[in-house]
Amino acid sequence: MKIDIILGLQWGDEGKGKVVDSITPNYDVIARFQGGPNAGHTVEFEKQKFVLHTVPSGIYRKDTLNIIGNGVIIDPVILMKEIEKLSSAGISTEENLLISKRAHLILPTHRLMDAALEASKGASKIGSTLKGIGPTYTDKIARHGIRIGNIDDPEFQAHYNHLKEEHLSIIRHLGFDFSNFKLDGICLSDYEKKWFESLKSLRKYRFIDSEQFLNTCLDDGKKILAEGAQGTMLDVDFGSYPFVTSSNTISAGVCSGLGISPHRIGNIFGLFKAYCTRVGAGPFPTELKDEMGDTLRNQGNEFGSTTGRPRRCGWLDLPALKYSIMLNGVDSLIMTKTDVLNNLDEIKICTEYKMNGKPLKGYPFDVLSTELEPVYDTLKGWNRSLDDVTSFQKMPEELKQYIAYIEKYLKVPVEMVSVGPDRTQIIKK
Ligand code: GDP
Ligand code: IMO
Ligand code: MG
Repeated sequence: MKIDIILGLQWGDEGKGKVVDSITPNYDVIARFQGGPNAGHTVEFEKQKFVLHTVPSGIYRKDTLNIIGNGVIIDPVILMKEIEKLSSAGISTEENLLISKRAHLILPTHRLMDAALEASKGASKIGSTLKGIGPTYTDKIARHGIRIGNIDDPEFQAHYNHLKEEHLSIIRHLGFDFSNFKLDGICLSDYEKKWFESLKSLRKYRFIDSEQFLNTCLDDGKKILAEGAQGTMLDVDFGSYPFVTSSNTISAGVCSGLGISPHRIGNIFGLFKAYCTRVGAGPFPTELKDEMGDTLRNQGNEFGSTTGRPRRCGWLDLPALKYSIMLNGVDSLIMTKTDVLNNLDEIKICTEYKMNGKPLKGYPFDVLSTELEPVYDTLKGWNRSLDDVTSFQKMPEELKQYIAYIEKYLKVPVEMVSVGPDRTQIIKK
């Protein structure tokens, strides 16, 4: 067997949680391969709404195993809070949630350092979710980090203390006053206490060699879906650096983040919203800073699942999608939030960028340039509700044309269309 991948092609929040949950019945295992609690994946069913940060979105189906892979980084406080929320909604996780021993831990001082580094950047800050993502991956790459499989080592506490002191000295060096700084509403020492308690509670979960486990699952004919976090345009190598996250969000991240050979990669599903959003700072060529942007934000309820920040909104960006598809090797496209465009007479779609008036080939390195100008085509909107649409055939003609335009440009078929937040609101080809 081969492992399928589902990932975001834009700047995150494409609806990964919703779509993964919808298609989980087709799989035995769902595995997260990168990122950490900067992710916020929303799943809605039976009038309930959940937001997951670290737990894979297959957790609501009790016959599916969920793996937190080695490429993921874990804040025990956030993970335990998530598990408790699931448990109070009657969803048990002890049997079907497994954690890679190789997943690195986000220490309380990693979070503090994130805040200190962002503050030190002043106006050029990234708009990080401040969950400690950058500093934790930095320690991992610098070979300083602590993995969850190390928590019973005799030197664990000494390692923790050493890292903490190192972080505090950098934070002091940055001139960041953390005496009154709160982490999720509490001071550092209280957060640390909670952190150790949460780590203890996590011991009831199985810490596994997930790379071996997953490869054995494939040998045994089990179906696995890898769930991405963030989006391709936030990839540390190919996103709009430095306004990116600190992991590889692209399909190659599955190989390193789960220990899967490229030979074992199967179908790659690329998710995109029918328009674009971005939360945090950084270039966004098709951003709408006018009333239309507000309309998309209100219709789409575009407020961050992790931080509650308003998301920046804009028209669909085909050059960016083409670039994402190239990086990931996407086989099928899934378009989400289609219903958000229901009330429009006209829909714009970016087909090309110009730099200093000249059309560009490919996606530019210099995407930060103010000289970059998007060129648009205008399509007719369907201007009606999609509530009664249950198949591709029954879609309004204008929506069919919107999809056909995208497919023709990108040369990849759109195989699913999401028309609402509920797990049932998805149309499959
Ligand atoms: P993720 O990070 O990719 O999982 O996406 P988020 O959960 O952060 O953001 C997507 C938001 O859109 C969530 O509030 C979802 O409930 C919602 N959503 C997902 N698909 C659709 C859709 O097709 N239509 C509408 N209106 N909302 C959707
Ligand atoms: P999901 O998985 C949208 C953005 C942040 C910031 C930048 C760096 O829900 O799609 P970080 O916390 O990683 O240091 O932030 O990346 N960002 C996301 N934006 N969705 C996400 O995840 C994101 N995770 C990080 O807003 O601009
Ligand atoms: Mg999200």
